[in-house]
Amino acid sequence: MSKQKAQPIVYLNGHYVVLQDACISVLDRGFIFGDGVYEVIPAYGRNLFRLSHHLDRLNNSLNAIRLKNPHTPEHWQQAIKQVIEKNSYDDQSVYLQVTRGIAPRDHTFPDQGSPTVLIMTSPLEGQATEIVKHGIKAVTLQDNRWQHCHIKSISLLPNVLLRQEALVKGAQEAILLRDGQATEGSASNLFIILDDCLITPPKGPLLLPGVTRDLVVEIAREQELCLKEQLISETDLFRAVEIWLTSSTKEILPVTRLNDKIVGNGKPGPYWRQMINTYQAYKQALRSGHYQ
Ligand code: PDD
Repeated sequence: MSKQKAQPIVYLNGHYVVLQDACISVLDRGFIFGDGVYEVIPAYGRNLFRLSHHLDRLNNSLNAIRLKNPHTPEHWQQAIKQVIEKNSYDDQSVYLQVTRGIAPRDHTFPDQGSPTVLIMTSPLEGQATEIVKHGIKAVTLQDNRWQHCHIKSISLLPNVLLRQEALVKGAQEAILLRDGQATEGSASNLFIILDDCLITPPKGPLLLPGVTRDLVVEIAREQELCLKEQLISETDLFRAVEIWLTSSTKEILPVTRLNDKIVGNGKPGPYWRQMINTYQAYKQALRSGHYQ
């Protein structure tokens, strides 16, 4: 007899319920307008990766869309931990979303009403051996998103279309170009190695301030690598000997093909290898409770 799989449990507006019973109104402004923000937080060995950084960014996103944070950091922490405990995997990717709640359809903010809060998790896989061996392909596409990409908005249609276009072109991610500068990936931040320096675009309204990006920057500083937070021109992107894309779920991806060009020698490079080893050691320390 096949073993029954445990049902995923989610948090919806203060209640812990089975995923398939978690329902919201069709009038929710998240559904109608994409009027909300989100976070994705990895947990290794059920220990949350840089929770305070994610909660700070959530707070910034909520402020930017003029929606009051419904919970204190302590409440968020407790609810997220509960969801992690109630689900069966040791490594989980936590997705949380806050929308402006339910109201008759009208673009202007409702006078009253309360936000909708959802927290759910899914199993988090480590990097596939295929990626570690060969890296991934990326393609450059025009960044046609709005001017407020620092807000982690659930209105992701441009990102969805860009990512899909990359997929159709045989690539795993799109590297976005705005006015001749590379900003970030459709769901990741960008780093390159050029002239023995690690370069990443500076934070600002044209890219998401990634939590993984910040850790990579921290590690680079600790290791006294040459690090520059500066704009990356399209020309420099193509001159780079290594290209990395970072995110909470994908960690640090080595890009070994860009459009029709081989990056470096076509294999994940030595700088990437050094960085991913340190990153994996950080994850391992988190798993064993080191950062509690
Ligand atoms: N996305 N830039 C964009 C546009 C992103 O969507 C993401 C992450 C990042 C990396 O941020 P972080 O390192 O904090 O995950 C950069 C998440 C994972 C997602 O939408 O699923």
